[in-house]
Amino acid sequence: KKIMIINGPNLNLLGVREKNIYGSQDFPSFFDELRQRYLTVDLSYFQSNHEGEIIDKLHEIGFSYDGVVLNAGAYTHTSVAIGDAIAGITTPVVEVHISNVHKREAFRHHSYLAPNCVGVICGFGLNSYKLGIDSFL
Ligand code: DQA
Repeated sequence: KKIMIINGPNLNLLGVREKNIYGSQDFPSFFDELRQRYLTVDLSYFQSNHEGEIIDKLHEIGFSYDGVVLNAGAYTHTSVAIGDAIAGITTPVVEVHISNVHKREAFRHHSYLAPNCVGVICGFGLNSYKLGIDSFL
């Protein structure tokens, strides 16, 4: 199976930013662990702080991959355009969050992406990504 993890804005700072919320591991080292864990899966990773680049990536892979695990960061709560991109592609997308967004500020409770996703996983730390991958296997 071909699965891509897409991380949105500020997730390049994992391990550095707000460690009390997002933990102290950086994503590249976690991604190495994922590679070891899912040896039979063709796993790839893309990160961008730019809304349009996330949309371009969804268009590029969204008709050939078996699944996308998407943490769109704050764009989750603001981006009609990413929501539309998910609706427009055929590859199923699972929305994930490291933190439990429902425990946090009200503006994080709404997602423009979720209605177009297979499901939403949040609150399990980096394990949210594993659960997202598992959902496609
Ligand atoms: C996040 C939650 C978002 O509300 C926030 O803007 C992020 C990270 C998470 O993984 O918990 O950047 O998507």
